[in-house]
Amino acid sequence: MVSGRVGARVGIAAKSGIPQAPLHAIHCCKINRLCRTLTGTLAAMTSERISRRVGAIAPSATLAVTAKARALRAAGERVISFGAGEPDFPTPEHIVEAAAAACRDPQHHKYTPVGGLEDLREAVAVKTRRDSGLEVDPADVLITNGGKHAVYNAIAAVVDAGDEVLLPTPYWTTYPEPIALSGGVTVPVLATAVSGFRVSLDQLEAARTPRTKALIFVSPSNPTGAVYPRSEIEQIGRWAAEHGVWVLTDEIYEHLTYGDAQHHSMPVVVPELQDRCIVLNGVAKTYAMTGWRVGWMIGPSDAMAAARNLQSHCTSNVCNVAQAAALAAVSGPLDAVVEMRRHFDRRRQTMHRLLSGIEGLVCPEPEGAFYAYPDASGLLGRDYGGVRPATTLELADLLLDRAKVAVVPGEAFGASGGLRLSFALGDDDLGEGVGRMVDLLGGG
Ligand SMILES: Cc1ncc(COP(=O)(O)O)c(C=O)c1O
Repeated sequence: MVSGRVGARVGIAAKSGIPQAPLHAIHCCKINRLCRTLTGTLAAMTSERISRRVGAIAPSATLAVTAKARALRAAGERVISFGAGEPDFPTPEHIVEAAAAACRDPQHHKYTPVGGLEDLREAVAVKTRRDSGLEVDPADVLITNGGKHAVYNAIAAVVDAGDEVLLPTPYWTTYPEPIALSGGVTVPVLATAVSGFRVSLDQLEAARTPRTKALIFVSPSNPTGAVYPRSEIEQIGRWAAEHGVWVLTDEIYEHLTYGDAQHHSMPVVVPELQDRCIVLNGVAKTYAMTGWRVGWMIGPSDAMAAARNLQSHCTSNVCNVAQAAALAAVSGPLDAVVEMRRHFDRRRQTMHRLLSGIEGLVCPEPEGAFYAYPDASGLLGRDYGGVRPATTLELADLLLDRAKVAVVPGEAFGASGGLRLSFALGDDDLGEGVGRMVDLLGGG
């Protein structure tokens, strides 16, 4: 019945017996490899105490940078962090008010259906039609504990042991982990600054094998800020539909595009893909609600049923009060995000201008999300007061140690050579932080 569409482990008619995650299903990212070596060693040392599959999970490299910066700050250092993956604005007041009211209402003290509050699922369907033009049946919406949980559910729902998942690289650091947990194999498809950090159809086709089960697609992109134009989305969507490849399209930054760039939803551009496409989204970035942990996934009924079954045993419903907040967010106006985007756009331009002044750093102009992703390979091997960083991992360490500036090295995203700098921070800090980088690395 599930006949290879939905991952056998999560499918309704799941086979008995859990396949082993192959340890070779490990992505190329160096920092994660290091973390994996450490965690793998731990797993070996504690053999049988910790499962191999979970023992091999790398800690989130982006959260690790933020944590290191926070620790230095706690020690009294004035660290400027470009590590944050979250808006620096508070959640809009009407959303907070809705949550406060829900707290006081006893009906919100109970479990909700696993799939989420009916009103919220309907509001997500309406919002999706409004924002991307996708027609959605609320029954095919699953409310999840943040967008990250939607990513996990979706991968668990479609990936089986040995399945290959194409992953445009540099990639958001989380994606490879649920793939490995499902026993799948991440196949990185490398995009560079030259191609605007977008993968081409030829690259995808070259990476496709009979085992290719899915493509993870994210536009606007974390970490690169790249936004695919409609024509390329159409090509990729048609190719996926033609070859029966699932597309998990992460639209969490849909409202954060700048200049001429526009977000387009792949299942809208290519309707014939809808039967093999799962849309991932959430309130975190659009409404400055990272801490509230509400996301969702939308897709064909069999995949949604599988994901819902998984979630029913894993987390049940999302916090009822947070769902009430999300309902106020998605059914309310987009004024707050328009305002945030205005600030992000200004900072984006400032950051791009300042980074472009560092000789050896090549900074494509970010078109979406809130990240700049300069190519720093030209800075490697130079002498900075007795230290010669050979990798961007070492360069990021140098910046933190000497300039007290936190950036995330490309190794966290599967490709050495780049640095991710979030511009979700105040204008003054942004200017000072890049100024410190110029002082250390030298201007143009
Ligand atoms: C591309 C992408 N997808 C999903 C998420 C998950 O967002 P959350 O779990 O906070 O809703 C993030 C967060 O950084 C992201 O960058």
